Amino acid sequence: IPVEQFDLIIFGGTGDLAKRKILPGLYRRFLSGQIPEGSRIIGAARSEHGVEEFRDIVRSAIAEHVAPDKHDDDAISGFLNSLEYVTIDALGTGGWKELAALMRPSVVRAFYFSVGPSLFGAIAERLKKYKVTDDESRIVVEKPFGHDLPTAKALNETLSRHFTEQQIYRIDHYLGKETVQNLMAVRFANMLFEPLWNARNIDHIQITVAETVGVGGRGEYYDKSGAIRDMVQNHLMQLLCLIAMEPPYAFDPDALRDEKLKVIRALEPVEPDDIVRGQYLGDDEGPSYLEDCGNPSSLTESYVALKVRVSNWRWKGAPFYLRTGKRMRARSSEIAIVFKDPPHSIFGDQAGQNPNVLVIRLQPNEGMNLTVTIKEPGPGGIRLIEVPLDMTFKEALGAEADDIPDAYERLIMDVIRGNQTLFMRGDEVEAAWAWTDPIIAQVEDRANRPKPYEPGSSGPEESLILMHRDGRRWREVKV
Ligand code: BG6
Repeated sequence: IPVEQFDLIIFGGTGDLAKRKILPGLYRRFLSGQIPEGSRIIGAARSEHGVEEFRDIVRSAIAEHVAPDKHDDDAISGFLNSLEYVTIDALGTGGWKELAALMRPSVVRAFYFSVGPSLFGAIAERLKKYKVTDDESRIVVEKPFGHDLPTAKALNETLSRHFTEQQIYRIDHYLGKETVQNLMAVRFANMLFEPLWNARNIDHIQITVAETVGVGGRGEYYDKSGAIRDMVQNHLMQLLCLIAMEPPYAFDPDALRDEKLKVIRALEPVEPDDIVRGQYLGDDEGPSYLEDCGNPSSLTESYVALKVRVSNWRWKGAPFYLRTGKRMRARSSEIAIVFKDPPHSIFGDQAGQNPNVLVIRLQPNEGMNLTVTIKEPGPGGIRLIEVPLDMTFKEALGAEADDIPDAYERLIMDVIRGNQTLFMRGDEVEAAWAWTDPIIAQVEDRANRPKPYEPGSSGPEESLILMHRDGRRWREVKV
């Protein structure tokens, strides 16, 4: 869907997120002809730069963060020409009048708050005070969206003092990932899956987001956060919601977000024995978590595994097992739907008869895989084997798969289109904290040390027990 001409103002326009994700993403959209002529991207930050200096910063960001086959000199200079820069003091008065003077009537305005949440209130207030925004303007905010329920509520209140919910776009970049949206297409555009999508037919679900990187470089932030706040409260929660929710009546922002909210409200509190936390050790390739975060007595987790129960008619009895960690064996994110065994085997107690598993691979090698049991070819009776029905986007879609926009590109374009479907609503964020806070309080209260795990492994031993206890097994963490 084409977008209208727009002005996108990026507060923190020379910061890390802008350089790594936002500006390279916008360049790729420009290259694909998705940015209408006359649109402008306006960097706003504290440093005193002229527009040419800002263009140089963006040129280097493109060189560093865009794949070389997408470096096109004409496109790069065209993109750089659409940039403007304003020096702004988020907490003071400098730059605001200049920014207001740059605004154009009847052009979509979006303001990306790519700054720490402590500045959200000051920026929102000044946008209004200096009449930089109009009633149609949109603001975009990123996690950390609060640190717990009270801080999330306070942030929501601050923003809603100046903007309506329809103007606020809260990004969870997982919702912008291609396969995450595909999850909804698979569920609701096929007849095959939805009739089986419940605890009568599904034994359990595993959600894994494994990363190979450590927290080096952002240890100070991470140590105040940990895997539960950094990943579970938002990204894994969103994945869980999309799997567990009831079909919305339409692919409509509020219809979808209402259904996700119902799932979050149906989550049972997590029992202490259903949580395993870990911290990676060091090896030749990198320091340990404790060294990375610079706090030798840190009790923050770099890995967490949880057993989560959704208390409603659809899911009672089929738990969701969630895990995420740093410095694990492979960068691999997937959702595995493990079906129940057939009620009766006509082949007796045959080895080889395994449950069907539907795996939705989020990254890398985006695609789907369904294991089915078949007869091993050959004479001499029936022997069962398990085979994959495998589909990667790359194989199925060929060159089209190369042009899949990254999460940020898609989400920014949705902001311009005014489509909130893939953004979190304020009540959703608060409900997610309301569920996460007691989990965090529990682990902090017990002050139990996270279990050490080897880097390059699939997490602490104790996480295996979480599954074995229930007669289940984690899938192997592999690419
Ligand atoms: C971020 C977390 O939100 O998501 C990081 O703060 C994490 O700790 C990142 O590494 C993972 O995102 P992706 O897209 O690389 O899976």
